[in-house]
Amino acid sequence: MDLGEKIVLITGCSSGVGMHAAVQLAQQGARVYASMRNPAKAGALKALAGEAAVEVSVLTLDVQNNESVRAAVALVESEAGHIDVLINNAGFGSVRTLEQATPEQLSEIMDVNFFGVTRCIRAVLPGMRSRKSGRIVTVSSVGGLVGQPLNEIYCAAKFALEGLIESMATYMEPFFNIRMTLIEPAGIRTGFVGRVMADLQKEAAPLQEVYGPVLGAYIGQIQKHGAFESSAQTGAQVAEVIVHSLQDESSGLRTLTSPAAKAFVREKIQGDPDGSELQGRIRRDLLGVG
Ligand SMILES: NC(=O)c1ccc[n+]([C@@H]2O[C@H](COP(=O)([O-])OP(=O)(O)OC[C@H]3O[C@@H](n4cnc5c(N)ncnc54)[C@H](OP(=O)(O)O)[C@@H]3O)[C@@H](O)[C@H]2O)c1
Repeated sequence: MDLGEKIVLITGCSSGVGMHAAVQLAQQGARVYASMRNPAKAGALKALAGEAAVEVSVLTLDVQNNESVRAAVALVESEAGHIDVLINNAGFGSVRTLEQATPEQLSEIMDVNFFGVTRCIRAVLPGMRSRKSGRIVTVSSVGGLVGQPLNEIYCAAKFALEGLIESMATYMEPFFNIRMTLIEPAGIRTGFVGRVMADLQKEAAPLQEVYGPVLGAYIGQIQKHGAFESSAQTGAQVAEVIVHSLQDESSGLRTLTSPAAKAFVREKIQGDPDGSELQGRIRRDLLGVG
């Protein structure tokens, strides 16, 4: 896809991957609508856009609020005419056991990371379907393919995303020319990890009480292997992968963003690294389209 003049809506642009993707896409000539739930946090994005000498439009979009999502999509469609690309990026991590999480915490993790994406996709689909054109990129995680200790609720939300996108991709592209893509990073050096650690600190006592040995073993292994420090990407690097995936019409359903991400999920992706073989077979067997 030539990104010049394409209308792009991104969620979660106050920091990290979303902020860098917004600026990099604008550098490619796209008309970028960089959304965030709290536009008072747009300072870092505006500074980065200023350094790159590009413009991005900031708008409010809280993925947890249907009305906010509908209003943001309506604003872009009325101002720009349509939306070519939706990038579902907003999300947050949580190290919390199922037993320890309150029902409200369980719901919030699912709501932001999974239902938030469903709200955004539902809002852009009517426009994309009627134009028979669109790209929907969803930032998942290696945690969408591989369950990890103490991350069960976050991984469940990302697994749900993978199921949603993998299923919709089977018919959206052949019937409506809407391509759906999953972006799967491993660790990224953004505020995400700090927020997870702060949350963990807050919840340390109940976690320690029962699951202390598991937490100790988990942190011990992470420190021993130095996995995060040595292989984590920057938000800008993951944003580059998103830009490239949009430009590359031959990219498959899923893109693992680094060698570390590929290595982490290797047993799950053997023989079909980008998911295109399986997509092809399901489209042929269940829909009769090639
Ligand atoms: N960092 C990692 O190690 C890692 C690894 C794999 C996948 N990912 C995924 O990568 C994506 C981007 O994360 P990041 O690393 O760039 O983290 P980040 O810097 O913390 O950015 C997350 C963004 O999501 C936004 N957000 C959270 N709840 C929201 C809501 N209800 N409505 C709208 N926006 C909301 C945050 O907004 P506020 O500033 O208002 O909170 C922030 O802009 C996420 O989907 C995450 O799951 C991250």
